[in-house]
Amino acid sequence: EHIDWDAEAAEKGGYDSYMMKEIYEQPNALTNTLIGRLHDDTGEVNLDINLDPASFKRISIIACGTAYYAGMVGEYLIEQLARIPVDIDVASEYRYRDPLVSEHTLAIVMSQSGETIDTLEALREAKKFGAKTLGIINAKGSSMTREVDDTLYIHAGPEIGVASTKAYTSMVSAMLMLALWLGRARGTLTEDQSRELLHAARELPRLVEESLTPERVENVRAIAEKYADARDFLFLGRGVNSPTAYEGALKLKEISYIHAEAYAAGEMKHGPIALIDEHMPVVVVATESKLLEKTISNVQEVRARKGKVILVLSEGDTENARYGDDVIYVPRAHEMVSPVVNAVALQLLAIFIAEKLGKDVDKPRNLAKAVTVE
Ligand code: G6P
Repeated sequence: EHIDWDAEAAEKGGYDSYMMKEIYEQPNALTNTLIGRLHDDTGEVNLDINLDPASFKRISIIACGTAYYAGMVGEYLIEQLARIPVDIDVASEYRYRDPLVSEHTLAIVMSQSGETIDTLEALREAKKFGAKTLGIINAKGSSMTREVDDTLYIHAGPEIGVASTKAYTSMVSAMLMLALWLGRARGTLTEDQSRELLHAARELPRLVEESLTPERVENVRAIAEKYADARDFLFLGRGVNSPTAYEGALKLKEISYIHAEAYAAGEMKHGPIALIDEHMPVVVVATESKLLEKTISNVQEVRARKGKVILVLSEGDTENARYGDDVIYVPRAHEMVSPVVNAVALQLLAIFIAEKLGKDVDKPRNLAKAVTVE
């Protein structure tokens, strides 16, 4: 027993949990995702994918859980940058909904483990109807990697904590590279546009490292402890950061067992606004964006109903800070890469709330790291 405990403590590398260790591994994981693939000089990405990017008329993204939210960011990025129609499904729906697939479809399965049965079966379904298939996967040699036409490994390293952290941010970064690859090949992105985005991607490990400085982390911890007794949380975001809100809510419910839901901020008025009162903390992702003003007007609607607002703002945005009861500042990032940076702040919020409540963050009740039976 004693020896086991020591071995486990050593594996956690001085952190209280694998999850916390994996949160801090993100700068490294992102470096490994991006390394050798970005060519800023030419504006090209080298992904070694043996598929013809010009042959797709439509892309289907298929995943479960956290990977699904990474896929939602991917949908946004691919449509924006490569102008290909994208649809996205949770795998358990895709496999039974008789999807429209042809040989001009690229089906992208996203999975940390490469073993999730719903995603694997959905992949088989897509192949059966003639789709080309690509995996965005972490685990080397996993079942999905053996069945797809090609794999874009994310190289995040082993993830032990049941709640996914570094695999999420690495998957989102891989999606950005894929969108750039498609956009360059299809001529929807100029060399200059591509260079600018490659530069933004290259900054990610440093930006995430900055997100994890003691001062920033302690700020999130203090906010987490202040709200840990809430019964429900609402998360809001817009555009490329609406999936960030979904992922933030998922992280919180998985490890703290607090009810949390997320909406695209503009949709709040169509229902969830009825829930808001002084007991409802509302976490709003409001970093620099074309839509920031609109997000802030959504925040004012929350405040008018006495909701407590926790704002995630870009460093230096003192102008909008007054609309928050509490503010989490994150390093300034290009909007297209901001979902990676913003996710880290919400991971910290979730883990500190769960720790405050005394939960075992590595082994949340009822959840498994990979669900291999239907
Ligand atoms: C399980 C895990 C989630 C994970 C999902 C998909 O439900 O608890 O954390 O996001 O499976 O896993 P995958 O390995 O396919 O990414």
